[in-house]
Amino acid sequence: MKLLSLIVFAFCALASPYPGVRTSIGLAPMNKLLKASLPSILEEIRQTVISPITLSTRLLLIPLKVQISNFEFVSLSLDIVNSNFMVNNQTNQLYLTLANFNMFMKADYKYLHYGISGDFNITLINSTVILPFQLGVDRNGVVTSEALPLIGDLSSLNIQITPNGFISTSFMVLSNMWPFKKYTNEAVVRVFDSVSTLFNPKLQSFFGSIKFTDQIGNLPIAADYHFYSIQLNPNSISSVLNGTFYLIYKTGAVSPVVPPSYLPDFVSTSSVRIQLTDYYFDSMMWALYASNTLNVYISSTEVPVTFPYTFTTTGLNKLIPGLVSTYGPNLPVDLQCSVYKIPIVNIQDAVEVTVGTSCNFIVLVSSSIKVTAVTLLAEFDTNFLATISNQNEGIYIIGSLDNTNTEFTNFSIINSQVGIFSTDGLAKAINWYTYYVILKANSVLQDQGIRLPLPEGITVTKTTFNLYPGAVEIGFEPIFS
Ligand SMILES: *[C@@H]1O[C@H](CO)[C@@H](O)[C@H](O)[C@H]1NC(C)=O
Ligand SMILES: *[C@@H]1O[C@H](CO)[C@@H](O)[C@H](O)[C@H]1NC(C)=O
Ligand SMILES: *[C@@H]1O[C@H](CO)[C@@H](O)[C@H](O)[C@H]1NC(C)=O
Ligand SMILES: *[C@@H]1O[C@H](CO)[C@@H](O)[C@H](O)[C@H]1NC(C)=O
Ligand SMILES: *[C@@H]1O[C@H](CO)[C@@H](O)[C@H](O)[C@H]1NC(C)=O
Repeated sequence: MKLLSLIVFAFCALASPYPGVRTSIGLAPMNKLLKASLPSILEEIRQTVISPITLSTRLLLIPLKVQISNFEFVSLSLDIVNSNFMVNNQTNQLYLTLANFNMFMKADYKYLHYGISGDFNITLINSTVILPFQLGVDRNGVVTSEALPLIGDLSSLNIQITPNGFISTSFMVLSNMWPFKKYTNEAVVRVFDSVSTLFNPKLQSFFGSIKFTDQIGNLPIAADYHFYSIQLNPNSISSVLNGTFYLIYKTGAVSPVVPPSYLPDFVSTSSVRIQLTDYYFDSMMWALYASNTLNVYISSTEVPVTFPYTFTTTGLNKLIPGLVSTYGPNLPVDLQCSVYKIPIVNIQDAVEVTVGTSCNFIVLVSSSIKVTAVTLLAEFDTNFLATISNQNEGIYIIGSLDNTNTEFTNFSIINSQVGIFSTDGLAKAINWYTYYVILKANSVLQDQGIRLPLPEGITVTKTTFNLYPGAVEIGFEPIFS
């Protein structure tokens, strides 16, 4: 790499914000999709109406205007097996190569003002036509695709003109003297332009079908998946996406999450790879925290009957001695739990989440008086598990908490109105309750899948998960529908 481009590269790397998500889509599955859709695309081209072309020229100093119109495809074919998308590493453009393109087209010509007209055939045999596309990202973070002029081998272009009456016949003799071919070239180029204009919206809508913002289930938080950049590699197209969560009802709220200083590389060899970075999860945790989504209020009557202690002053007195003597027996106790700091996600060989919870034990002294007897601080440590599923046209990660790796730890009591006591009993009881918390959390999580920022119409097979410091990577082989 030249020094200058190295400097430019380093500058770009610094200037671009830290991504929450990176994706990579292999060219191989895109080519599979291309080959499957070429027959119908050829059919679309055949039915394309090419507008008349009018050209001005001079013949022996006489100004002439020639119009070519009534284009009609008689036959059109190409070698599907050898046609493909590929990345040109010089121009960094996506090249669509149409191999062994054969075309037989009829059209009419007319020299305006001279009454000379006739028809002609245009044939193109075994031509290799390359249609370049420039992919990019616009200022709004949306992928753009621009069809560029074709790079084609039109050397086999052949034109046969049908003489039509005496004037036309004489004219034909004349017309051989000047480059009629140039004009028909123009017509052929128009054909390929129409191929490009057929393809371009397809490419654009392929990337455009990604949901640029996506709410998590019906939680009041959403992820922003606008693109930062798109890069063409020899065998894949990779993208860098924002992947920051925000609060739907408070869009001004800014996450204080600081991204790490390094970005891990992809590790899997799957055709489609999605990397969700530490930053993505940290920003999700901030959004969950800041939207109060993680706060719960459990009234004494809601506590499951399987819980070994009833949620009354008498029932809980064994765990929190002093409840009965302070407030009296058999009063209902409600539990109000909140998360008092942004949960911490640590990705190593598992996705560990540590949630600092604060639970108020609220004694309902009378119908109008509620008193917080004690506040219990505890840490909730759990592991995230995930599966991938296809639903509603999208690919979702369905998360769950691993009940074998979940525990409340680090208990401490603050603001006690009932004196000092050991938290051992409470710790045991709360951990007994964990299983219920997990079941409840998992039933919620199952309904709140995270949609992956991928184009529509993809079905996943052979899913793999890779966990490594700094990111979770999901890989799969896509089937396009
Ligand atoms: C560019 O592509 C050609 C052929 O595909 C390959 O031989 C060459 O190594 C590539 N160059 C770079 C810099 O990737
Ligand atoms: C076109 O190319 C194919 C293979 O490259 C060859 O078999 C075929 O004969 C060619 N057709 C014409 C008309 O040149
Ligand atoms: C053009 O092709 C048609 C067959 O579709 C043929 O009848 C006609 O003679 C051809 N014209 C010339 C000028 O070769
Ligand atoms: C990323 O998304 C967040 C949430 O929508 C937004 O606040 C932030 O400005 C975006 N970052 C960039 C660099 O566009
Ligand atoms: C408990 O808290 C202390 C200090 O707040 C911390 O250093 C320790 O890592 C915590 N223990 C666990 C198991 O989280």
